[in-house]
Amino acid sequence: MLKGKKILLGISASIAAYKSILVARQLVKEGAEVKVIMTPASKDFVSPLVFSTLTKNKVLSQIASEDSWANHVMLGRWADVMLIAPLSCNTLSKMANGQCDNLLLAVYLSSTCPVVVAPAMDEDMWRHPATQNNISLLKSFGNTIIDVEKGELASGLFGDGRMAEPGSIITFLTEKFFRTKELKNKKALVTAGPTYEPIDPVRFVGNHSSGKMGFALAEALYEKGADVTIVAGPVQQIKKYEGIKIIQTNTAEEMYNACLQLHPDMDIEIMAAAVADYKPADIASEKIKKNDSELLLKLIKTKDILATLGAKKKNNQLLVGFALETNNEKKNASIKLKNKNADMIVLNSLKDKNAGFGFDTNKVSVYTSDDTWIEMELATKKEIANRIVELIIEKSHA
Ligand code: CTP
Repeated sequence: MLKGKKILLGISASIAAYKSILVARQLVKEGAEVKVIMTPASKDFVSPLVFSTLTKNKVLSQIASEDSWANHVMLGRWADVMLIAPLSCNTLSKMANGQCDNLLLAVYLSSTCPVVVAPAMDEDMWRHPATQNNISLLKSFGNTIIDVEKGELASGLFGDGRMAEPGSIITFLTEKFFRTKELKNKKALVTAGPTYEPIDPVRFVGNHSSGKMGFALAEALYEKGADVTIVAGPVQQIKKYEGIKIIQTNTAEEMYNACLQLHPDMDIEIMAAAVADYKPADIASEKIKKNDSELLLKLIKTKDILATLGAKKKNNQLLVGFALETNNEKKNASIKLKNKNADMIVLNSLKDKNAGFGFDTNKVSVYTSDDTWIEMELATKKEIANRIVELIIEKSHA
């Protein structure tokens, strides 16, 4: 996601500077070029050597030394984003008031790129009207604030003031600045997870789907600029990005209704949910008590969401289904594509180790309506999702 992006990482004096080591590492891992600027006092918390080693760039700290001058104007212009994390109370106050007594402040004042700050301080400092006033000033300058988190503070107290976690900072930057535009203005619907079909108030018929694949697809679509809604069955997954919408459902019927309502506005629909094919014919209103005889459950068919959307699909809508087969896999999957009028079928393998329900990795092959099979290697569900979304982009441009 961050490949080739240029990030200026400003470090000010706070114990939370140790977390910025992970921020720098993750940014580099995701392909960004990172230059670190430290305030003189921040070096008491973390050595510049850590950042120069991780970023493979010299850490900058002084405006001028005996024989050189750091070009703060060009640094501010070089960056796609300037991230100051941690932002101490002192540096915040100087930024709010236009003070310029170190390189970090000089770059901030001359930067032309968006500036994002992640404050870190004790709760009482954070709540002080002077601090809040300074935060408001930064907002009025157009800077973006990553909210502090609640938790244990360096003082030993518990409260607001912790710097956001490195993972949340990276997600925030990605969501706000680095979504690409391939699917901009496209609306996408993804179904994810199992469905639970009630037998009585306490029991249900369900399956082992975790929803991981569907959530990974939603993330991948969103990162390419799409407006994404997940219609989820009962899952434990947490969406990565604020902007992804989730409609929570439990049964196949609820999932069907939610999808049909969304369908007319959708450009891309991916049916990754493991929807129950059958549900109990009757739902007992009270808990079924055991007795000496057998219990026979009569099951009736649920409505097929993929087939229904396939029947209603317009030419400008792209529909992707999943298939889980145990025999004649490719033949059955290609029949499914035709019968359900899909544009693509993703065939899940149950035979490969580390693939399928609950795993973070998957192994799939993709069959398209132009009668081609695309084999994908075992990879993380996110990598597979990225590949599927690339195919969708190619197909929607074809
Ligand atoms: N699907 C659906 N609604 C259903 C059942 C399945 O939308 N009521 C979708 C799944 O989300 C998946 C595709 O249909 O995208 C294939 O599901 P699968 O269970 O493999 O196929 P079935 O058509 O149910 O056929 P079978 O179980 O006989 O293989």
